[in-house]
This record gives sequence, C-alpha cells and structure tokens, in this order.
Amino acid sequence: MTNILELKNIKKTYNTAGNILTVLDGANLSVQEQQTVAIVGESGSGKSTFLHIASLLDKFDEGEILLDGKEISSLKDKEKSVIRNKNFGFVYQSHLLLQEFTVLENILMPILIERKIKKADRIRAGELLAKLNILECASKFPTELSGGQQQRVAIARALIQSPKIVFADEPTGNLDPETAKTVKDLFNSLIAEENISLVIVSHDLTLANSCDKVYKLEDKQLIEN
Ligand SMILES: Nc1ncnc2c1ncn2[C@@H]1O[C@H](COP(=O)(O)OP(=O)(O)O)[C@@H](O)[C@H]1O
Ligand SMILES: [Mg+2]
Repeated sequence: MTNILELKNIKKTYNTAGNILTVLDGANLSVQEQQTVAIVGESGSGKSTFLHIASLLDKFDEGEILLDGKEISSLKDKEKSVIRNKNFGFVYQSHLLLQEFTVLENILMPILIERKIKKADRIRAGELLAKLNILECASKFPTELSGGQQQRVAIARALIQSPKIVFADEPTGNLDPETAKTVKDLFNSLIAEENISLVIVSHDLTLANSCDKVYKLEDKQLIEN
C-alpha cells in the first residue's frame, strides 16, 4: 500500500517573548490509503501542534510533508488552502459550528466558500445527516442541538467533500462517555464505509487501539507502537 501522507523529520518551535520552546524534533508519521492512525500522548506533548502541521494549518521549522509523494509544505498559502479544501476534512473541538447558520448550511459551508451549491451537494448532505442520525436537525440552529448532535454535524461537515484524509483532534473529548461512544461508532463506520484515511488524536485508549496504527508522542517524537 502506498503512503498517502508522510511527515518527515518535523521540527517545531514556539517563540513566546524570546523564549524558544521546542515541541517537535524529528517527528515522523506515515498514513496509507484507507488507514486509520491514532496519536496518543500526555497533555502538552504536542499532539495538537503536530495535527495542525500535518493538516497544513500551521507552519514548522524543519522537515517535509508529502501528499501522494509530492512535497506540499513549501507551496504558497493559496495553493495550500486549495489542497486542504480538496483533500482534507477536519473535526476539531476549536472548529466550532457557525451559530447564525442552520445545520444544513454549516454542513454545506466548505463547498459554499468555493462555489455554488448543486443539487447533488444537498443530496450528499442529506445522506450524511441520515447516516449520522441527525436528519431531523437539518433546519435547526447549532444552539438547539445537544453536544453529541453538534459533534455529528461537525463530522458531516468534514466529510461533505469526500476528503482523502480526515484529521480529528479529541473529537469526543467534551462528550459524556455514552454519547462519546455513539458518536465514535458512527464516525468509525462512516470512515470505513467512505474509504477515508483518518489521523486522530485521542485520550481514549479504546478508540486509539481500534485504529490500524498507534503513535505515541513522547520526547518530541512519534513512536509507533
Ligand atoms: N501558539 C502557541 N504558542 C506558544 N506555545 C504553544 C502554542 N501552542 C501550543 N504551545 C505549547 O506547546 C506545547 C504542546 O502543546 P499542544 O500541541 O497543544 O499539546 P497537546 O495537544 O499534546 O496537549 C505545550 O507546552 C503548549 O503550551
Ligand atoms: Mg491538544
């Protein structure tokens, strides 16, 4: 199987008021087509930092990122955002739903920022809503939904453009255990069904161990278990 995404020798430092903090130093990770990869590690070890770098949301000091064998991190910002929009989906706790838009509009937003919505897009959105058991929420606003429902909307939004890779940062971290399990199961089955690769940061060891590959972030590097 070929690597769809590869990060090589990533070094990342933060410079806060002259204080240099090295968070990653020689971090490597590879993801194959349709593979699910988990990243675990202690709080503050750099998991979110790594995920932001891998998904082209953050810059880094050294190393390279290959998508389908091609280096993409040295591209211009505009080209990077095209790659992101076309290939990546995101389920991040910080990527909140837009409160002034309905559930359906939120799900269609990644398309709406690029072009006009087509009938096929609405059908796709409806299918995702149905698969995630939130069809009845389509015309509601985010504030009218439970936490678990909101996170399912975020999942539908991440999947709307059939991305190659979905990046998820503690996607069930804010949910109670029972809701987390429901969301997790729906998420996993959709990822498998749609042949998507997944890179997920999680504290949940059951979730991490259900992935094809588990990396632990420790001492600024990723160690494959
Ligand atoms: N924007 C930032 N500026 C400065 N330091 C940061 C920034 N983001 C994260 N850090 C620091 O980098 C380290 C790793 O953070 P993070 O990637 O959020 O870890 P994790 O997701 O594993 O909890 C922490 O020490 C954190 O304080
Ligand atoms: Mg984090």
